[in-house]
Amino acid sequence: MSFCFNFDVPAQTTHTGNIDGNYSQGGEKDSAAQSTDDTTKPAEPVKEAKKHLPPSDLQFLPVDAVFETVSIGTLPPLHFLNETVFEKTASEREDWERIFSLSAEQKSDLISGVYEGGLKVWECTYDLLELIEKQEATFGGKAVLDLGCGAGLLGILALKRRARQVHFQDYNSTVIEQLTVPNVILNCQTDDEADSKNYKEGRGKGKTEKEADCEMTKDREELTDCSPPPKKRAVDLSQHPLLPKCCFFSGDWSTFLALVLQTDPPPKYDIIFTSETIYNTAYYSVLHETLHKLLAPDGLVYLATKSHYFGVGGGLHLFKNFVEQKGIFSVDHLWDGEEGLQRHIVALRFKTAKGS
Ligand SMILES: C[S@@+](CC[C@H](N)C(=O)[O-])C[C@H]1O[C@@H](n2cnc3c(N)ncnc32)[C@H](O)[C@@H]1O
Repeated sequence: MSFCFNFDVPAQTTHTGNIDGNYSQGGEKDSAAQSTDDTTKPAEPVKEAKKHLPPSDLQFLPVDAVFETVSIGTLPPLHFLNETVFEKTASEREDWERIFSLSAEQKSDLISGVYEGGLKVWECTYDLLELIEKQEATFGGKAVLDLGCGAGLLGILALKRRARQVHFQDYNSTVIEQLTVPNVILNCQTDDEADSKNYKEGRGKGKTEKEADCEMTKDREELTDCSPPPKKRAVDLSQHPLLPKCCFFSGDWSTFLALVLQTDPPPKYDIIFTSETIYNTAYYSVLHETLHKLLAPDGLVYLATKSHYFGVGGGLHLFKNFVEQKGIFSVDHLWDGEEGLQRHIVALRFKTAKGS
C-alpha cells in the first residue's frame, strides 16, 4: 500500500463543500468563504466518542516492531511505530473502521469523515517539537491535551517532561488502539532498552517528511527480508509511573467534548497541542468550541499548521478569520517557516483572563 501525502478528498466522501457552500474541490476559495459561518455542521453523522482505558497490566508489543525515533536537540528521544508497519500488516489488523482498506484503495491518507490522517506523523508536528526545543518549554505539573494526536508525539513529549496528566484524542479509534497507545507503551520502556533493540544511530533526527520517506523505504526492505511472523514481548505496565497519567479518546470533536464535559470536574487543560487539524473548514466551529470549553483560563493552545491545504480548502488564514470573528482568543505567531509550502505555529490564548 502506498500512501500519498495529499489532501485530495474523493467526490464520494462526506466533505463536499465548506461551511458557506462556496468552496471548490480544487482548494480555490471564494472570497466570501473568508467570512466563515459556523452554523454549518459536517453533513454525516459524527463519530461517537469513546474513552479508551490506559493499559494497566501486561501488554504485548511485537519484539521486532519497526519503529522510528525522533531526536531533536535536548528533547528526550521519541519513539513511534513506523508507518510501514501498518502497510505491511494491514491485512492482519482489526480494521472495523476500514481505515487501512479504504486508505489503500483510495491511495489517500485523508478520507474526510472516515479516516482523518492519524496513522502518519505530519510535518508540522516536527516543527512544533523543534519550537518546544528552542523555547526550552517544560510541562511540569501541567494538564495537557494532544488534540487530533495521531501518533501522539507531542503528548508523549509532555509526558516525558513531567506533565501531570496527558490526554490523547484522535478521530479514529483504530489510530488510538493501534498507534497512539502502542507508542505510549514504547516510550514507557526505558530508552536504553528501546535503543538496544531497534534504534539506529541518527535515525529520525529532526527529519523532514522526505527524509522520513527514505527511512521508511529502508525499513520496507528490512521487513521484506524477515520472513518469520513477529514474536511478541510482554511489557509489564502495572508499575509504570507514566501510564496512569494518560487517557485516550477517539471520536469526533463534538462528541469528545460532550463526553469529557460529563466528568466531574470537567478537565481544563493548561496546554493544548493541535497539529495539522485545521484543513477542513467544516470542523472549525466544533474545533473552536472544544478549545474554548477545555482550555484553562490562563492556558495556551499551540496550533501547528500549513498556510493552506490544497484539495481541502482550509488553512491558517481562514481559521484566523474564524477565530477573530468569535472574539474569544488572541492569535500570536510563534514561528513562520519560509521554505516550500509555508508552515506556521501560532499560540491561542483567551483574550480575557477569565477565559469566558
Ligand atoms: C492530519 S492528522 C494530524 C495528526 C497529528 N496531529 C500529526 O500532526 O501528525 C489530523 C488529525 O486531526 C484529527 N481530526 C480531524 N478532524 C477531526 C474531527 N472532526 N474530529 C476529531 N478529530 C479530528 C484526527 O484525529 C487526525 O488524526
